Amino acid sequence: MIVLGIETSCDETSAAVIQDRRVLSNIISSQLVHEHYGGVVPALASRAHLRMVRPVIDEALNTAGMSKKDIDTIAVTHGPGLVGALLVGLTFAKGMALALDIPYFGVNHMEGHIYGNLLSREQPAFPILFLIVSGGHTMLVLMRDHLDYTLLGTTRDDAVGEAFDKTAKVLGLGYPGGPVIDKKARSGDPDFIRFPQAFLKDAHYDFSYSGLKTSVLTYTEKHTTEHLERHMNDICASFQKAAIDVLITKSLRAAKAHQVKAIAFAGGVAANSYLRTHLTEKGRQAGFDVYQPELAYCTDNAAMIAYAGWHHLQRGERSPQNLNAVPSLPLGATAP
Ligand code: KG4
Ligand code: ZN
Repeated sequence: MIVLGIETSCDETSAAVIQDRRVLSNIISSQLVHEHYGGVVPALASRAHLRMVRPVIDEALNTAGMSKKDIDTIAVTHGPGLVGALLVGLTFAKGMALALDIPYFGVNHMEGHIYGNLLSREQPAFPILFLIVSGGHTMLVLMRDHLDYTLLGTTRDDAVGEAFDKTAKVLGLGYPGGPVIDKKARSGDPDFIRFPQAFLKDAHYDFSYSGLKTSVLTYTEKHTTEHLERHMNDICASFQKAAIDVLITKSLRAAKAHQVKAIAFAGGVAANSYLRTHLTEKGRQAGFDVYQPELAYCTDNAAMIAYAGWHHLQRGERSPQNLNAVPSLPLGATAP
């Protein structure tokens, strides 16, 4: 089955062609316009998607050596995300499906992140404890089988990626914050400052990141510019350790409690080098298989959407032409 995937939920316009588990193309156009504002501006995102969606799809087809007629079906993100941004991809997908007389399926973006990880495993061993960490979400999910999700915990305020982005802004490091903090932290001392780790010892699996963000802000207000510049790498390393260690501790605890076979992680923050190294090491020490996502499938991309959609479409699931974009679509919800 050849699937065209389309992703426009935030600030990446992406299209991919997959043939079953094989990725034939995965084109990503990142919108640079937001850098100037230190965060994603929804109206500008929609406009950039409108401009890019068609050329990105054409490039995905060309790279895969295919024409529209070769496509069996389309998988497109319909939530969660920015409503105006989602509507661009969804509307385009519906129009294409109608014109080509082929079925399409509306995919949950978070399910896409999960399948971005599973793209590299032919036969995942269930149950899997999934940590999903992105710019908008922080979730621990128990996955007992394909497309079967139980939400164990989530963030009560900011998402972890959002905490990286906001902290980078406070430190004057630009947007997005994750990659730059990750890079600076590599040559910093993670024990230089002890930042708070909310809910670290609580038995539940929820997270909170607004306190951490505020304490970095307070720290910058209490120290001179010279001190901040001299210790920028140490501040980044200390922030990163506080933000990530709590994810690792709770993932291990949940994995043990639910006796899973593997721990997997996904989403933009899954590209973080500290998380990749330490969760993998500690997970393996505790006797679990650890599924690391390939870097190419961590941040938003359409290959992961195509692969999640493929699982639904294989089961004969189809979306109707009146499917809507749902900005806060929960994982595992049936399409409204
Ligand atoms: O999954 P994603 O591309 O978009 C959403 O669905 O939100 O995730 C983007 C988030 C941003 O907050 C970005 O700062 C973060 O992922 N990110 C990272 C790294 N690379 C991207 N965070 C920490 N370390 C990284 N290396
Ligand atoms: Zn995402």
